[in-house]
Amino acid sequence: MASPVTTDAPATAPAPAAPLPEVRKLGGRIGAVLTGVRLGGDLAPETVAAVRAAILEHKVVFFRDQGHLDEDSHEAFAQVLGTPVAHPTVPSADGRYALGIDSDHGARANQWHTDVTFVPAYPAFSILRAVTIPPYGGNTLWANTATAYTGLPEPLRVLADSLRAVHSNDYDYAALRPDALPEALAQYREVFTAVKFRTEHPVVRVHPETGERNLLLGNFVQKIAGLTGQDSRVLFDLFQSHIERPENTVRWQWQVGDVAIWDNRATQHYGTDDSDDHVRTLRRVTVDGDVPVGPDGRASVLLEPSEVPEPAFGPASGAGGAA
Ligand SMILES: [Fe+2]
Repeated sequence: MASPVTTDAPATAPAPAAPLPEVRKLGGRIGAVLTGVRLGGDLAPETVAAVRAAILEHKVVFFRDQGHLDEDSHEAFAQVLGTPVAHPTVPSADGRYALGIDSDHGARANQWHTDVTFVPAYPAFSILRAVTIPPYGGNTLWANTATAYTGLPEPLRVLADSLRAVHSNDYDYAALRPDALPEALAQYREVFTAVKFRTEHPVVRVHPETGERNLLLGNFVQKIAGLTGQDSRVLFDLFQSHIERPENTVRWQWQVGDVAIWDNRATQHYGTDDSDDHVRTLRRVTVDGDVPVGPDGRASVLLEPSEVPEPAFGPASGAGGAA
């Protein structure tokens, strides 16, 4: 009869457990605050997996007190979630991937949108870091496009499943920003639409990681495919209004050092323009996504130009959709 194996080797202390975030929900449908994690490029795989799972579940997650992050460590953290990508037209703030979201560039995002949906493979995640925060205002709101879909009455879900929409970066900024200086508008428009993109997406995107169905609309939508102007506008407003319902949203009051990470495939967001002339500076790094697919299995299609051009540095967001 075999006796139990014994060993004289000294017991080694177990490796300290990787820190896992504590998760506190902010609302019933969207948003959670995560604590106990110091973000960076050196996170343990278990910590990364927990953060990623929280993003997928809560759609947007918030971290306070991440003031140690700079351009490099912000980008290094992005790399643990995927491949950082540059904006297809707007030059970065640091010559690499960080996009400046600055109050003085005439670029306030006070329209509900999903980032960069005018290209096919728009970003999967956006990571926004607060650098300078005004004394009041400048909050950001996010909306859950998955619960917006599941909350629709059945006939509207069936209708949405059948629709596709054309998204473009070329629209009337002057109509959206009546208070902006003409020179600022012209300059921003010239940069943002240096290349004019048009992409046809399904109105309902099947999420590649969760399998959930999401409404894919927002202010880059030019029209619902196959419909005339008024019909297109009415249908857009109908579905978009379900996304924007207050119960479907969360609102964040920024502090310096905050980081917000959202699943750009399952949300829209809106930056409020209500801090007068106070400076507000945030840095955004986006992580590459893949080409959306609708409930019928049809993928998004780039209509214009023939391919997504490479920006000055790094791969372009959406370039994977050019093929
Ligand atoms: Fe945005």
